[in-house]
Order: sequence, then C-alpha cells, then structure tokens
Amino acid sequence: MSSQALAAGRKRLADALASDPDLDSLLDRFDNWSKDLWDGLDAVYDGHRTLPQVIEVIARIHKGRSAPLRQRDNQRILQSDWYQDPKSIGYVCYTDLFAGDLQGIRSKISYLKELGITYLHLMPLLNPRPGNSDGGYAVMDYKSVRPDLGTMEDLAELADDLYKSGISLTLDLVLNHVAKEHEWAVRARAGEAKYEEYFYTYPDRKIPDQYEETLPEIFPTFAPGNFTFNKEMNKYVWTTFNEFQWDVNWSNPNLFLEYVDIIGYLANQGTDCVRLDAIAFIWKRLGTNCQNQPEVHSITQALRAISKIVSPALIFKAEAIVGPQDVVHYLGQGKHAGKVSDLAYHNSLMVQIWSAFAARDGRLLDTALSRFAPVPTTSAWATYLRCHDDIGWAIDDSDAHAAGINGHAHRNFCADFYGNEFKGSFARGVHFQSNPLTGDRRTSGSAASLIGIQRAIENKDAADLSTAINRLICAYAIVFGFGGMPLLYMGDEIGMLNDESYKNDPAKADDNRWIHRPKMDWELVQSAQNGDGVAGRVFTAISALINARKNLNSIHASVTAETETQNDGAILLIRRKHAAGTLTQIYNLTEKTQYLDTFNVAFGDRIEAISGRKMHFAGQVAVPPYAAWWIHE
Ligand code: GLC
Repeated sequence: MSSQALAAGRKRLADALASDPDLDSLLDRFDNWSKDLWDGLDAVYDGHRTLPQVIEVIARIHKGRSAPLRQRDNQRILQSDWYQDPKSIGYVCYTDLFAGDLQGIRSKISYLKELGITYLHLMPLLNPRPGNSDGGYAVMDYKSVRPDLGTMEDLAELADDLYKSGISLTLDLVLNHVAKEHEWAVRARAGEAKYEEYFYTYPDRKIPDQYEETLPEIFPTFAPGNFTFNKEMNKYVWTTFNEFQWDVNWSNPNLFLEYVDIIGYLANQGTDCVRLDAIAFIWKRLGTNCQNQPEVHSITQALRAISKIVSPALIFKAEAIVGPQDVVHYLGQGKHAGKVSDLAYHNSLMVQIWSAFAARDGRLLDTALSRFAPVPTTSAWATYLRCHDDIGWAIDDSDAHAAGINGHAHRNFCADFYGNEFKGSFARGVHFQSNPLTGDRRTSGSAASLIGIQRAIENKDAADLSTAINRLICAYAIVFGFGGMPLLYMGDEIGMLNDESYKNDPAKADDNRWIHRPKMDWELVQSAQNGDGVAGRVFTAISALINARKNLNSIHASVTAETETQNDGAILLIRRKHAAGTLTQIYNLTEKTQYLDTFNVAFGDRIEAISGRKMHFAGQVAVPPYAAWWIHE
C-alpha cells in the first residue's frame, strides 16, 4: 500500500516541478528518503491522507530554494559527516548580548573564525511576544525576526556570510508551544475551530486534573501547574512552561504541516541546523509524564526525511533534557536508528562533569556513561559545560545505585554544592526553581562562577585562582575531547562571571537563569587576546584545546568515547579507539597531585596534544591537579 502511495506522491512531485532544473536530484532524494518519511508519517497520522499534502509543501519549499542553497545541499551530501568532524567547534550566543543585532554579528565573524568556530547557534531570534518571552522561547511569528535585531533579509545575508566563512548557522525551532500572541492562538481565542484544534483546550478541570497526576512541573516557582484558565475561551489551555506558552497539538496533521512549512522556510533562509526546542514534550499521553512518547520519534523521522528530500544541507539537533535511557532515542534507537536527529544535547555528560568536580570523583560519571546504549555512528552528541539554561541534577537513581551511592542524596549534594549551601564549596551559584514538594533544586550560574574563579577573585587568593582556572580548562577539555559537537557558551572563553544586572529588568527579574546570560564584554576580549589576566589565561587555554582537537582525527564522533577511572575516581580516563589511532585522555579531577600507574594507560615517549609537550610514560607518573592530557598513539 505504501509503495502505491509513494509512487503517486513521486508523480505528484514530478508534475508540480516539471520544468525545474534540479528535479532529477530531488527525485533521487525522494527515492532515498521517502520510505522513512512514510514510516514516520503513517505511524502517527493517516499516511494516505497526509502524504499528498506533504508533497505540496515539499514542492513549494523546493521552488523557493535558491541556487546557492541547492549547491550547499550538494556540498553537504558530499560531506555528510560535517557535524561529526573534529574540526567542528560550536559557539552559542544571544544576538543582542553578543553583538547588538544581526549586523553586529557579521562584524564579529572574524572573532569567531580566529577562535576556530565552525558552528554558531544564535539563541532565539524569531519574533517573540513582547515583554517576558522566556528568553525568546515564546515565539509569536516564526517567519519574522525580532525587530530590534534586524529583518529576515538580514538573517539570510548573515547566514550566507557565515557559510562563506566556514561557519554554519543554528536557529531554535520551538516545537512544543507558541506564544499566546501567535496568530494561531489569537484565532483560536476568536473561536475559529481550525485553530482551536491546534491547541489542547478543556472545558473544565476534569481531564487536566487526570493529566496532572503524572505530570511534573517545569517551572514550579513562577509557573506552577501545566494548565492555564483562559477567560476569553472559558477553557483550560495546556501550558507546560509559562502561562503565555501554549502547547501545540501534534496529533493534528494540520499542525504537523505547518511545521513542515516553517522548517522549509527557515532552511531556505540558509539555516544549517534547527535546534528542536523541548522536543521531548510534543506528544501527550494520559498516565505518563508526557515526555519521550514513541510518537515523538516517528514525527521527527517524518520531518527529517522531508528535510533530507528538500533541504539536505539542514540537520536536526534535539534538545531533550531527559534521562540517559530516554535521550539516546533522540539520536535513534531500533527502527529509528540513524533516522531522527543528527545531534542531541548530552545533558548527562554535562551534569556528570559538574558532579565529578564537586565530588572529586569520576566513578559515577564512568558508571553512568558506560551504561549508555550505543548511538548511531552517523550521529553526534552536542557536548557542553554550560548553556543558557539552569543545571538540573539529572542523576539517574539506577546509575547512582550501580555506582554504590544514593541518587537522592547525591542530587541534594550537587544542588547544595553549586547553590552556595555547602561549606567549603568552590562554587558561586544560585538555586533555580526549588520545589518543596519534590525537594528538587536546580542551579544557575556561569561556568567561571560555578567552577571557582569567582570565589578565588572574591578572596583575592592567587593560588586558588590558578586552581580554579585549571579546573575550568580541565572541564572544557572533557567537553572538547569527548567527541561530538562541542559547544562553547558565550563568555566562557574569557571566564565571564555571574551577572546580577538582570534583577533590574522586570521582564527578567523573576528568572535567575539571566545570571549566566551576560552581555559580552568586548574590552575583556581584547585583553584576553593579549593574554592578560584571568581572561587571557582562560582564552589561551581554550584556544589551545580547539587547535589540538582540530588535528585529532580520533575525535571524530563516529566512534564512542570509553570511560574508566583510576586512583579511587580521582583520575578520569577517556579513550577514543579510532582507526586513525587511539586517543587516551587523562584528567585529574582533584586539587591534589595524583600518582597514576601508567601500565595500561600509555607507554614510552608520547606527545601531549594540547600542550605539544613531549612526555615519557613508564611506571608511575605524577598528574598535577586538574591536569588534562590528550595522549595520541
Ligand atoms: C528549552 C529552552 C529553555 C526554555 C524551554 C521552553 O528547554 O532551552 O530555555 O525555557 O525550552 O521553551
């Protein structure tokens, strides 16, 4: 049955684009990916009904795809592993805080290039609701840019400039919700049935209450509950995040088609990667936590197959901040292996790095990562130390149990340690969304403040400052050495500290995640580039990591990082066994020198790749506090 439907779809596509010069290659791609499309589509919607509509959208997107972007499609097909490559280095920033506006970003391309950046994630810039927009994650219009940042034309020009400079562009695509000011929501409130069906609305609390029994709360402090009463409609609306973010209904095929169109539109502006925001939440099922439902993966598979057909230069990055057993599904498991997102955030690695530095012990990290299911060799993790969000202490109970510790107690320890409630902690962070019901507390704070640089500066303690800088570099070395797309978060390269100024802005004051979203300090960048002060030390060390990584083929994401610990967890070893050679990474997670028995680690004369230093391995080797060594065989 599906083959008939696909043959009809193919014919429809060929007819719609009869005189198109690139029709043959489009049809080749259709032949290659249409089965994935059908399988994803028909698992959730009625394939026979929806496919012809999808084909129409594909034809429209293809017509709007410019010649340079069609050429980019061909280039990316030839270099389909670009996001796995050791030369890929990501940078994440807010347009306004980094450079004022989109024109400003163009003037910073040289800075990014010099740093070695090849992938730029510009934080939400599609037109958000006015006032509090959850940092731009409440989008009012996906087809226009936030007015003070520029226009869609500016964005397209920027994407082109970036591409010519060897930098790909990532944009956020918020899939789970729209701002309540979005046209769909406005029309739903006006009583248009078509648009009411784009949302989840209920006449009374009966069904919402049933869902609430198993739903967690994302923002218990400033947005408790998952439903909001809307007076105009006299109904309850599903609002997982803030009351102004209305969850959209993905069980409606018309909504699916809207997003197909939006993805195509963004791809046609020159976007290279869409970050699928909060993707875990897009399918609801009574009696569950309404995250990670199987339909999410079928929908992603369909969307990605469409994108591979019409805009193969575009890749997908899943933002699913979920547990280890669930997150691997976003890169594809079982029938979806290699067919869903190309990149996914490695939230567990991020959490485990912070946990290991607090505990001075990598054993939980090792246990948790060793228990990860394999991911497709065509995919890559997005690795990171900090991002614009809080750190949720997502330590899995069974991982903790396997490592011989108590998960609940360890989560509390991490929250205390990084939230300024643990005597002797090096961190300066703040609690985010303390939930008295569950005891859960998350953490906000910049990398430099959380890792000890702020404390050392406050205490004017030069030795402690050096230790903290080394700790930061050690942490970033794990991020850069693990494999995948490492993401440098704006300001981390110059060790920017917490910024309290958000408290003066009423649209931000309630949300302390703004403490780690500072305005880029370009004066500090300049002194960093001259090698001065803390910023200079951090900048020089981060640059060295980037340069070292680019020359190590063994960091290619197609092979998995293997972890191990020594010295009662004080030493973390990461091994990357690649045909190009094995890379052994040695990290001292403590402020004490560790005497490492190098038997089975490395032997003889070796070059340490980050420093370029010659080293000799035999017997025991003294590993200085927070040393990070990459040893290539
Ligand atoms: C993602 C974003 C976060 C936002 C949420 C809702 O998790 O990273 O900042 O609050 O989605 O869109």
